[in-house]
Amino acid sequence: APSDPDLVERARAAKERLGEKVFVLGHHYQRDEVIQFADVTGDSFKLARDAAARPEAEYIVFCGVHFMAESADILTGDHQQVVLPDLAAGCSMADMATAEQVAECWDVLTEAGVAGTTVPVSYMNSSADIKAFTGRHGGTICTSSNARRALDWAFSQGEKVLFLPDQHLGRNTAVRDMGMSLKDCVVYNPHKPNGGLTAGQLRDARMILWRGHCSVHGRFSLDSVNDVRERVPGVNVLVHPECRHEVVEAADHVGSTEYIIRTLEAAPAGSKWAIGTELNLVRRLANRFAPEGKEVVFLDRTVCFCSTMNRIDLPHLVWTLESLADGRVVNRIQVDPETEKFAKLALEQMLALP
Ligand code: 13P
Ligand code: SF4
Repeated sequence: APSDPDLVERARAAKERLGEKVFVLGHHYQRDEVIQFADVTGDSFKLARDAAARPEAEYIVFCGVHFMAESADILTGDHQQVVLPDLAAGCSMADMATAEQVAECWDVLTEAGVAGTTVPVSYMNSSADIKAFTGRHGGTICTSSNARRALDWAFSQGEKVLFLPDQHLGRNTAVRDMGMSLKDCVVYNPHKPNGGLTAGQLRDARMILWRGHCSVHGRFSLDSVNDVRERVPGVNVLVHPECRHEVVEAADHVGSTEYIIRTLEAAPAGSKWAIGTELNLVRRLANRFAPEGKEVVFLDRTVCFCSTMNRIDLPHLVWTLESLADGRVVNRIQVDPETEKFAKLALEQMLALP
């Protein structure tokens, strides 16, 4: 639906009042009505870097989800305040790994005698606590656009990787990109004693995958791929690495949201693409590339928005910008200094990856 013209005008006016004081970041999964006000759009890696590159902005308004705003707070200066327009914009995947569960897992690895040779690699999609755990144990953060480089680095530091919290990104990168076998991977289930694993299994594994997943990307199945290949002859299937392993194996191309956009930009006119990622982005790409004669369809037939990304809507953005313009800081995301110190180590390790 087109955005309410009154709200559009109010957002524009509040942003104008704020001028250089505010910097608005928008993740690719955000609604069109919000994206139109973003000073920069990107995947989670690009946004983490861009947030850090605006020291003159007093307010960083993060149109994305909670873990992204936390990361922005960690990477920006103390004089900058990061704001999330709706505090309920979380991420179900990030919630699948709590600090207590991960501490317990580390105890299990310690008892099995493997903690000393294990390097934690945590996906950006995790809480600041998990990032701090990662930093404390000499690990790195990764995103879907640098997971391969993060794992290469981790295996230069140790023999095993504990990959948190997305089992699919971990497995897909290890098996598809690095030639490991499925047998090199075990899944640690935080809801079972000892993660459901024996000490022997932990000793034999190279990748210890946390049992987390994205509820949006997890909905794509092998049937979705087979079905779209029948429906759209000649289609190229391009999916995000948060999809299940069999989906990634059946796809033609795999990559982060930035990769998906770049691939479509470079695609020839007349080509057809089925995209397996969040629907706001796929719809935007379908509209953008239709005039160039590139057909973009959604990989599945069922609607697949990320409900928490969608919580950031124009009314919340207007309220946020008007509050800031009136000098009231609302919905500030602030990571405590102790957590920040170690989480920053892990994030900076990621930013330093070759
Ligand atoms: P990227 O932005 O790294 O592509 O990740 C997608 C995602 O699920 C963010 O929540
Ligand atoms: Fe989390 Fe998945 Fe939504 Fe990304 S798309 S914010 S991983 S639930």
